[in-house]
Formats: sequence, structure tokens, C-alpha cells
Amino acid sequence: MTGYFITFEGPDGCGKTSQIPPLAEYLRGRGVDVLTTREPGGTEIGDQVRTIIMDLKNKGMDPRTEILLFQASRVQIVEQVIRPALLAGKVVLCDRYADSTLAYQGYGHRSDLRFLRQLLHFATGGLQPDLTLLLDLDAREGLKRRQGGNVEWNRLDDYDLEFHQRVRQGYHQLAVEDPSRWQVVDASASREALQQELRGIIMERLSLV
Ligand code: TYD
Repeated sequence: MTGYFITFEGPDGCGKTSQIPPLAEYLRGRGVDVLTTREPGGTEIGDQVRTIIMDLKNKGMDPRTEILLFQASRVQIVEQVIRPALLAGKVVLCDRYADSTLAYQGYGHRSDLRFLRQLLHFATGGLQPDLTLLLDLDAREGLKRRQGGNVEWNRLDDYDLEFHQRVRQGYHQLAVEDPSRWQVVDASASREALQQELRGIIMERLSLV
């Protein structure tokens, strides 16, 4: 594959979602062919699945149902959006990907990591990011930001602080296990400082500096 696949990971409230559009704009200004997308969702079918996952009225969702719904959405985005874009030589910026399943369902909900890895392989066909940026933030701070922001509260925001702390530790563990793919950045920095750092890392990886 000729493109370059970059994923953004981090706890809720880490600011990924507001950092990606200006990053894409900046890269386009440098002549890079960029595609941005997000999980869960990012396709017509995936967006419908996302609605089911997030809906506050689905309180009775079994954790296994949740795991499978995330993978259903993922298959669609990999096959319809990410793989074709990479084949066309694009740089893909994806807001969350398979590592979210390991961090949230694996470390957060303590589902079996080995099984989740097999499932992820099935869902992604083995497609791995070239670079994963972890926007690292204290779990308490992340929750505070989510509560203070004007984003709609969803079913997944209802998990407690300890859950979000396990998610953060999980991310750290994943980053340590694969340092050539992961880069950890401090998401408590100002929005501008964070944007500069992300630009620097990506430009270097794309060897555009
Ligand atoms: P979203 O509103 O997109 O939040 P964020 O801006 O933090 O990405 O919600 C996505 C939520 O879904 C978030 O709480 C993380 C969770 N999630 C999982 O638990 N597993 C997954 O595989 C994915 C992709 C997301």
C-alpha cells in the first residue's frame, strides 16, 4: 500500500476531535492528499451502528454486544474508506481505531486481550496504522473537559473514573509494547502547542521537513 495511515487515540476529552481538522488543513496546504475519518462511524452503515452504541436508552447492552458492534462499524470503514484511500496513495487521519477496542473493552472492561486481538485481526484484515498518536491526558481532567464541553452526553460517558483510569493505563501499555508505531503527546498542553507538536511529528514521519 502506498498511502500512510495515522490514527489518533486517547481518553474521552483529550481533544483529538478538534485537533484533526486543522491538522488536515495544514497538511493539505503542504500538498498532501489527506482523508479524515472517525470511529465508530465514518460510513453510512457505521453511523447507524454508532447511534445504537451511543444511545442512552440502550442501558441493557451486553459488553459482548458492544464489542461486536464496534467491530461491525470497523469492517465497514476499513473496506469502504481506509483501504481504498491508502491504495490511492492518501494520508489517512483516523479519529480512533482498533487500539480503542484494546484500551476500552480490553483494559477498561477487562475483556480478554488475546481474544480481542484475534477479533481485531478479523475486523481489520490485519490493517495496522503506520503511526498512532496518543493524546495522553489524566482521566479526571478528561472527564471534566467532557462534562464542561458542549458535546452531547452518550451512553459510554456513563462509565466511572476508575474505568477511565484503566483505559489510560491500557493506552500506556500499548504504547510501550510498540514504540515504533506509537508516539505519546501531552494533551494537557494548550490547543496551539498540541497542534504544533502533532504537525511536527507528522511532517517528520512523512519526511516532509
Ligand atoms: P466519541 O463521541 O466519538 O468520543 P471521542 O471524541 O472521545 O472519540 O465516542 C467514542 C466512544 O467510543 C469513546 O468513549 C471511546 C469508545 N470506543 C470504544 O469503547 N471502543 C472502540 O473500539 C471505539 C472505536 C470507541
